Amino acid sequence: MDIDCEVDRSTQHALLQRVYRHTGIAMPERKWTLLQGRLRRRLQALSLESYQDYLGVLENRPDELSHFINLVTTNETSFFRTPRIWDYLWQVYLPHWHAAHPGGTLQIWSAAASTGEEAYSLAMLCEEYRERHPGFRYRILATDIATDVLQVGQRGRYGGRNVEGLRKSRPAMLEKYFCATDGEAEVLPALRSNISFREHHLHKRMEGGVRVDLALLRNVLIYFDEEGQQVVLENVRRAMVNDGVLIIGESESLGRFKTGFEFEQPLIYRNRTGHARGP
Ligand SMILES: C[S@@+](CC[C@H](N)C(=O)[O-])C[C@H]1O[C@@H](n2cnc3c(N)ncnc32)[C@H](O)[C@@H]1O
Repeated sequence: MDIDCEVDRSTQHALLQRVYRHTGIAMPERKWTLLQGRLRRRLQALSLESYQDYLGVLENRPDELSHFINLVTTNETSFFRTPRIWDYLWQVYLPHWHAAHPGGTLQIWSAAASTGEEAYSLAMLCEEYRERHPGFRYRILATDIATDVLQVGQRGRYGGRNVEGLRKSRPAMLEKYFCATDGEAEVLPALRSNISFREHHLHKRMEGGVRVDLALLRNVLIYFDEEGQQVVLENVRRAMVNDGVLIIGESESLGRFKTGFEFEQPLIYRNRTGHARGP
C-alpha cells in the first residue's frame, strides 16, 4: 500500500507535538523529514495510507504509544563511551566512595540507558574494582523511556560495531564478561544480576524512594528544551543522595541552569542539596 507523502502542515505539527507531549523531546518543524522517515515503517506495518490516519491511531489506541516512543527516540550508545569518564570513575570516584562508605552498597543510576551498554560498562568497572576490594558492593538501575531498547539491555546480547568497539578498546573485558552465543556476544549472568532495567520517563519523579550515589545522565538532555532540561535535572537531583555525583554527556552543560548541582570538573557535578544516605 502506498503512503501519501504529501503531509499538510497541521498533521506535521500535531505529530511533532505528540513527540513533545509523550517524551519531552523538542523537535522543531525542520525535523519533520526525520520524524516522517521514522514513522513510515510503522504506517506500513499498520497498512495505513496517510500520516493523518496514524494520528487517528495514536488518538484511539493507547497501546500504540509505546511503538511511537520507540520510533521517535534516538538510541545511539556504546560501551565505555567518552573514555575520560571511565578514567575518572576508576581512578577517583570508586576509591573515594569506597573509602567513605566501608560496607555500603554503591547505588548507580544509568538514566536514559538505551540498549544497556553504559550500564554493563559500569558493571564491568565495578566488578574489576570488587576483585581488588572484595568488600565492595554495587547495584545499577538502568532506565529508559523506550521499551524496545530496554529489552535489548535485559537480554544482554550484542553484535556489530558496539562489540567491535569493545574488542578494540578493552579486549580483556570482552573476553572476561561475555560469552559467544549464536554469533553474538552475550553478557555473563553474574554481571547482569547486578543490573535492573526499568521503564522511566525522566520528566516524571522517580518513584519508590530511590536514592542513588552516582547518576549518569548522558546524551539525553540535548533532546529537551530548556524548561524540560530544568525539570529533568531537578527530578534526577531528587533521586540522589547529598554529595552524589552526576555525570552528563560531552555536548551538554548545566551552566545556564539554576540547580543544586555544583561543578566539579567538566561533565561532572555534585549534588549539594539532596538527601542524606540511608543505611
Ligand atoms: C542517545 S541515547 C543515550 C544513551 C546513553 N546514555 C549514552 O550516553 O550512550 C538517548 C536515550 O534517551 C532516551 N530518552 C529520550 N527521552 C527520554 C525521556 N523523556 N525519559 C527517559 N529516557 C529518554 C532514549 O530512548 C535513548 O535511549
